[in-house]
Amino acid sequence: MIGKATLGCDESAVRKLFYDTFAHSEGADEGRIISDLASELARQVSQRHASFFGLSNTDDALIAGAFTSSLSNDRGINAKLMAPVAVHPDAQGHGLSRQLIEQIIDTESKNAAVLVTYGDPSFYGRFGFRTISTAVVKPPYEVQYPEGWLAVHYTNKSASDLAGQYNCVEAFRDERLW
Ligand SMILES: CC(C)(COP(=O)(O)OP(=O)(O)OC[C@H]1O[C@@H](n2cnc3c(N)ncnc32)[C@H](O)[C@@H]1OP(=O)(O)O)[C@@H](O)C(=O)NCCC(=O)NCCS
Repeated sequence: MIGKATLGCDESAVRKLFYDTFAHSEGADEGRIISDLASELARQVSQRHASFFGLSNTDDALIAGAFTSSLSNDRGINAKLMAPVAVHPDAQGHGLSRQLIEQIIDTESKNAAVLVTYGDPSFYGRFGFRTISTAVVKPPYEVQYPEGWLAVHYTNKSASDLAGQYNCVEAFRDERLW
């Protein structure tokens, strides 16, 4: 299945996609937390604090989506966070996350030095993400699963070049997300 890249970011469609996806996989409470996060990020796209990447089906319904946002730091490193990522339960298993994540890796490579995510290494490892030390590239909050703090490096900067404290945009300032 090939999704059609969406233009723009419709907040209510984003909220529904992230609620349906995370309520299905992790229950209604997680569905609410992640759909609130996605809604807030959707509102920040117009102010350029976040970017949205979406795929729709032939009926123009949003079936996959992911956000990137800045991870600021005092090293002047252009670092981006890719999160959250969702493929609607009815559309899973057809290669849509691969299409979406490969598009994001390619797009962000044009300006970011490093693309970070926080999630399952066995999934994100398929796209080149590797665990990074939380003691070196320090996440905004203490993470529950340090092995899930992952990055794709675009430059040949060493880990020590990337060392520092990284801070997230407002939407992620909630320790339940980490
Ligand atoms: C995880 C998720 C994004 C995968 O989307 P998908 O479109 O079904 O995945 P694809 O069909 O594109 O599969 C891409 C690759 O990942 C693998 N994969 C899919 N789900 C996986 C999982 N849960 N764990 C490990 N690997 C997985 C596939 O086998 C495939 O591997 P290959 O291309 O090397 O053969 C989707 O199931 C989802 O949204 N789940 C609920 C929310 C979530 O977990 N989001 C991500 C973490 S924040």
